[in-house]
Amino acid sequence: MAKITVSLIKADIGSLAGHHRVHPKQIELAEKLLGEARDGGLLTDFRVFNCGDDLQLLMTHRRGENSPEIHGLAWNVFKEVTEKVSKPLRLYAAGQDLLAEAFSGNIRGMGPGVAELEFEERASDPIVVFAADKTEPGAWNYPLYKIFADPFNTAGLVIDPSLHSGFKFVVLDVFEGLEVELSCPEEAYDLLALIGTPARYVISKIYRKDGLPAAAASTSRLSLIAGRYVGKDDPVCIVRAQHGLPAVGEVLEPFAFPHLVAGWMRGSHHGPLMPVPLKYAQCTRFDGPPRVIALGFQIHDGVLEGPADLFDDPAFDLARQRANELAETLRRHGPFMPHRLGPDEMEYTTLPKVLEKLKDRFKKAQ
Ligand code: F6R
Ligand code: MG
Ligand code: MG
Repeated sequence: MAKITVSLIKADIGSLAGHHRVHPKQIELAEKLLGEARDGGLLTDFRVFNCGDDLQLLMTHRRGENSPEIHGLAWNVFKEVTEKVSKPLRLYAAGQDLLAEAFSGNIRGMGPGVAELEFEERASDPIVVFAADKTEPGAWNYPLYKIFADPFNTAGLVIDPSLHSGFKFVVLDVFEGLEVELSCPEEAYDLLALIGTPARYVISKIYRKDGLPAAAASTSRLSLIAGRYVGKDDPVCIVRAQHGLPAVGEVLEPFAFPHLVAGWMRGSHHGPLMPVPLKYAQCTRFDGPPRVIALGFQIHDGVLEGPADLFDDPAFDLARQRANELAETLRRHGPFMPHRLGPDEMEYTTLPKVLEKLKDRFKKAQ
């Protein structure tokens, strides 16, 4: 049997009530279009869902990663939903993430976010798909490190011989377009030295030491593509689990702590990443707080069984409560750092235009 590829491609192409959530008619049309692609044999299976104002296309197929047909299909779906739903309904920021004029072979670098993982299906293959709103790709650095390198999170790293030798992390420098592979546990401190700067260094892929693909995350930063502020990148991530990989519970465990991420309100503020079920995957307070959903699937011959809405559980109530408390503390800072991002990151927001106006009023201090 040929390898299967799971592709999760997402874009904000307009939303309901400002940047709140995807419109049901956008989901309906995307499902119809992907259904035609499945019936025509291009896709094996698919699911369409949303995290906040981002439309998520989860697809399985046999074309491998970076397939022009699959990327082209996603691009066309985003285009058609923009033209036939977002624009006629005057949804907010219609077509926002479609930064390129026309599709040119690979959707990476054109606006939408992409996470793809090609692998040989095991006898039983559970995957967890994560999607976040009001944050950036570096938001996965903390949980991915915890899942695949921290024995205080993942008991299997200590107990299970098939995980015991550790994992390899591919880290992308989003400013330079360079990547480096680091092995854990041996190079854990080097890895942390990089990924502790999540605005620049982003984990893109994780492999088990024997080469088994374990995780893939989206890395696009819209502002770096467009050279200006165009909303946040709202990343996605695919993680395989169980039987020689972290258990589903180990994959979810880092989210019991709502770590602080960049991207809240105007892409310009830090906030806690709140784990929520699908029904709460929509941003409200101060356009947030940033939130994350986790959908579990079993894959068989490329067919997706599921989803299981994994954060729809009282076990994450405490994380949600802590996230609300942290959100409240940060909000009280108003326009002050560390709620507002630091000057480096604010360069990619609308703040420089405001500062420009004051430039000529500065006089030499006495
Ligand atoms: C969008 C986002 C929002 C917007 C904010 C202002 O993903 O994070 O917080 O940045 O609502 O949007 P505009 O400038 O379109 O009014
Ligand atoms: Mg939006
Ligand atoms: Mg969004």
